[in-house]
Amino acid sequence: MSEVNASTVKLLPSGRSFSVNAHETILEAALRQNIGLPYGCRNGACGACKGRVVEGQVKHRQYQEKALPAAESAAGQALLCCAEASSSELVIEARESSAGEIPVKTLPCRVESIEKIHDVAVLKLKIPASERLQFMAGQYIDILMRDGKARSFSLANAPHDDAFLELHIRHMAGGTFSEYVFKTMKEREILRFKGPLGTFCLNESSDKPIVFLASGTGFAPIKGIIEHMIHQNIQRPMTLYWGGRRPADLYFHHMAESWAQQLPHFRYVPVVSDATEEDQWTGRTGFVHQAVLDDFADLSGHEVYACGAPVVVEAAHQSFIQERQLPADSFFSDAFFLSKDLTPKA
Ligand code: FES
Repeated sequence: MSEVNASTVKLLPSGRSFSVNAHETILEAALRQNIGLPYGCRNGACGACKGRVVEGQVKHRQYQEKALPAAESAAGQALLCCAEASSSELVIEARESSAGEIPVKTLPCRVESIEKIHDVAVLKLKIPASERLQFMAGQYIDILMRDGKARSFSLANAPHDDAFLELHIRHMAGGTFSEYVFKTMKEREILRFKGPLGTFCLNESSDKPIVFLASGTGFAPIKGIIEHMIHQNIQRPMTLYWGGRRPADLYFHHMAESWAQQLPHFRYVPVVSDATEEDQWTGRTGFVHQAVLDDFADLSGHEVYACGAPVVVEAAHQSFIQERQLPADSFFSDAFFLSKDLTPKA
């Protein structure tokens, strides 16, 4: 394919246009010009940035096939985080997201508190009083490490409650940042981060009932979205399925229970896969996505928001769409991998 110096992309259905430079991905170009396209990993791993090339041609950088199977590529789908323009005019059909239009900042922050709940650290970060971080519930930030790497963490607080940024970090043996948080990090320490990033946000134009599916610390962005909905008095029926291996993995179980007690339109289904006798667990057992399959014969009228272990989110994506008639554009999921080193995101 020939190389072009600059191209113009027109988006459908909005009709908005923007330019793309040579060696720039379509997503990079859109974000540079404050056009909000959905994305997650920015690395060809999650499929959140998919769009359909209606006219013109693109060439892809490396990506993972699960994010864009061959049949979808043959049908004109492209991963906009990996696709460069190879024709001077392009027409692309893509969902737009206002989250992508929020300015991304690089800021210092101070560790205000570190609360350890079993093997999860709840970090509260304070940004300078002269700054404000605009974000949407469900987005994430990249903590910038001294070695030049970044670690991505979802924001667990909602935008109306932004005195602190809240992160939930699972202790992973051998995980450089998580070991650091658990063993070395002190309150008042200064970190740097970049954000907000990602487009895992509530589709506020819909009034469909919602299924939230979280595994482990995948609860964090879902907590942010639910707190945002409570604050905005959005009364869509919603059910939270939260899965963990042991009951202690549901580290904010009481918070979810209190939402269920207070909100008539909210249901909470905790699911544990490997309870032991000493846990005395009397609730649902098995895989969390299977609990949804057991409870819903048809998801065609729902939206699903899923976050957590990639294997759980992928199993949910496949089975809900293929076996429960969930429309593909009603499945929202967070990025599964860090952009830099493919380490699972907390
Ligand atoms: S595959 Fe493009 S953002 Fe994840």
